[in-house]
Parts: sequence; structure tokens; C-alpha cells
Amino acid sequence: MSPLSPFDLSNAERRTTKKEPTMMHQKIEQLKTDFDAELESVSNSADLETIKVKYLGKKGAVQDLMKSLKEVSAEDRPAVGKIINDLKEHVALRIEEALPRLIAREDGDRMQQETLDITLPGRRRHAGRKHVINQVLDEIIDILVGMGFSIQLGPDIDSDYYNFEALNFAADHPARDMQDTFYLSPDMLLRTHTSNVQVRAMEAHQPPIRIIAPGKVYRNETITARSHVFFQQVEAIYIDKGVSFADLQITMTEFLSKLFHAEVETRFRPSYFPFVEPGMEVDLRCLSCQGVGCSLCKHTGWLEVAGAGMVHPNVLKHAGIDSEAYTGFAWGMGVERLVLLKHGVKDIRMFTENDLRFLRQFTSI
Ligand code: DAH
Repeated sequence: MSPLSPFDLSNAERRTTKKEPTMMHQKIEQLKTDFDAELESVSNSADLETIKVKYLGKKGAVQDLMKSLKEVSAEDRPAVGKIINDLKEHVALRIEEALPRLIAREDGDRMQQETLDITLPGRRRHAGRKHVINQVLDEIIDILVGMGFSIQLGPDIDSDYYNFEALNFAADHPARDMQDTFYLSPDMLLRTHTSNVQVRAMEAHQPPIRIIAPGKVYRNETITARSHVFFQQVEAIYIDKGVSFADLQITMTEFLSKLFHAEVETRFRPSYFPFVEPGMEVDLRCLSCQGVGCSLCKHTGWLEVAGAGMVHPNVLKHAGIDSEAYTGFAWGMGVERLVLLKHGVKDIRMFTENDLRFLRQFTSI
């Protein structure tokens, strides 16, 4: 850093005779030269602070000079004192001048490092948006809640009892093979359908029951354009006195009309599910060709959208509901399938590939 102040060197002399004013003048002059040189080479505000302390601090060089004044003869003291004061002012003033210059330079350096260009236009922040499946799921839920259903969720990992047995699948029932199940243990599994909420809903509430159960389901299947190992379903169940098949037809048709923003035509085809009697497949008149036949409906004129039926008396019995007094309908539909139809998506795998070019096409409502 800086050389030793001449006043450190003068200690020996200080102890001896009164100082010659010319000697003092020299020292003051030397100190000033040293200070000016140091100030010249200072490159940052922290070093400037060090110099300030060195010269103007309580134990600094100027203070040392002041102390040695008493060694100057009384007659020379005022004149020498004035020179020391002048030096002190000089030092203080130059430091004061230097400080803003150094700070400005430091700010400039930082700006350069940050390469901040304030003339650049602002960057657009991309807000995330809901996945198209969730957008449609929200819409489905809104419509059904608007029609009087409330939501009940069930577990993804469930027992054989709720997924099969309580739904009238006997232990050796061949219908268990209809759904390729992921078993976690002989008794626990990944639910194969949201129908696992049916008996839970009946256990939790007395009729009238009007519940929908949205959620993920899992099947041990080969992944193709049309099937996946997991997908979403929405189960609906309505149990009360006098609920009839006509209620199922009307409710389902009304729901689909609202979802597709059109007067849709439905068709109920007999089918088999152990937990309903009679069981049905619900078809929708093809939205693309209005039933004439096209590639979307594989030239049948109809699109399959749900499984449905009248709740089997055995299922009601499992839940402790009087099957003589009450009847009910239930349906289960695949959400991905409805999204395919609503948005003309051809391959179900697109939904889980996280390709933003695909996902960004579906702006949230
Ligand atoms: N759980 C059936 C499945 O995943 C769908 C289903 C069919 C649900 C008929 C129902 C129903 O509630 O009544 O294939």
C-alpha cells in the first residue's frame, strides 16, 4: 500500500529537541505529496476509505502532525499549525471530490457486467395454463354440478372389495378379466374405474344420492393411439325413489348437449356390466358427419361415449340400501374420449407427451 508516513519516522527526533519549522514544512509537504500520489492511484471507494482513515483518522497522519506541533517553538507554532490545517482541508476536500467519481465508476462497471440494456423491449412471461384434459374435466364438472350433482372423490389405490366385489363382481367372476388390473397385492389394486366410488357414496349418504366421481383410473393395457395405462373417468350415480331408465336417458342426453354445445342425439345399446341391470353403452350421433358415416365414427354414424345402466339391486344391498324402495342409475365415461371428440384429437398419447406445441393449442376458458 502506501509508504510509511514521514511522521512515524520522526518519533526519534520528537523525543529530542524542538522541531525546526523548516523540518516540519518538509514533512507536511512530503505528506501532501504522498497523499496526492496515493489518491491518484486509488481505484475504488473501499480503498479511498482506507486512505481517509490513514490520513484523517484519530490515529491518522494529520493527527500525528497536530500532536507534534507541541514540539515546535511557540512562535512558529501558529504558522505551522495553519499549514497543517490547510493540509487537512486539502486532504478532506480531495477525498470528498474523489468519492462520487469512484462510485459512479463502480456503478458503470456493474452495469457493464450485468449487460443491462434498458432499451430492450420487455420479455413476455409465459403463464402456464390448464392441461386440455383438465379444461374439459372442469367443464364436465361445472355442467353436472349445475344439474344438481355433488362431487365425491375416491382413492386411486383401492381394495378389491370396492373396485370389484361390492360392485357385484364375484371372486371368480369372468368379468374381472374385462379389465386388466394392476394388482399391488392379492387384495389391493389401482382402481380400474371410478365406479369404486359408487358403494362409498352409498355408505356415506342416504338417498337421495346425486354424486359424480371424477378421477384417474388404471389399466394394464398396451399403449396405443386409443388406449392408455391411465386415463380419467367421471362416474355419475343417482339413487332415489322412482329413478327410472328415462331419467338416465334424459340426464345423459342433456349433459352431452351442454358439453358439445349442440342438440345431440343419443342411443342406448344393451351391454353388460355386473353392477348395473340393464347395462348399456351410450352412443352419440356422430358430431362430424351427423350420422352419415365418416372416419371419426368409423362409418357407423355413432360415437361411443359412456357405459351406463340401472344400479344392480345387489350393489344397493352391499351398501345397505333397500333395493325394493330405491332405484338408481349410474354411468361412467372416459374424459380423454370426450376430449378427442370435442377437439378432434386423433391420438390419446398426445395428452401425456408434454409437447407444448400440442398443448398450447387449447387456450383455457
Ligand atoms: N366402470 C365402467 C368401465 O370403466 C363404466 C361404467 C359402465 C360405469 C356402466 C357405470 C355403468 O357406472 O353403469 O368400463
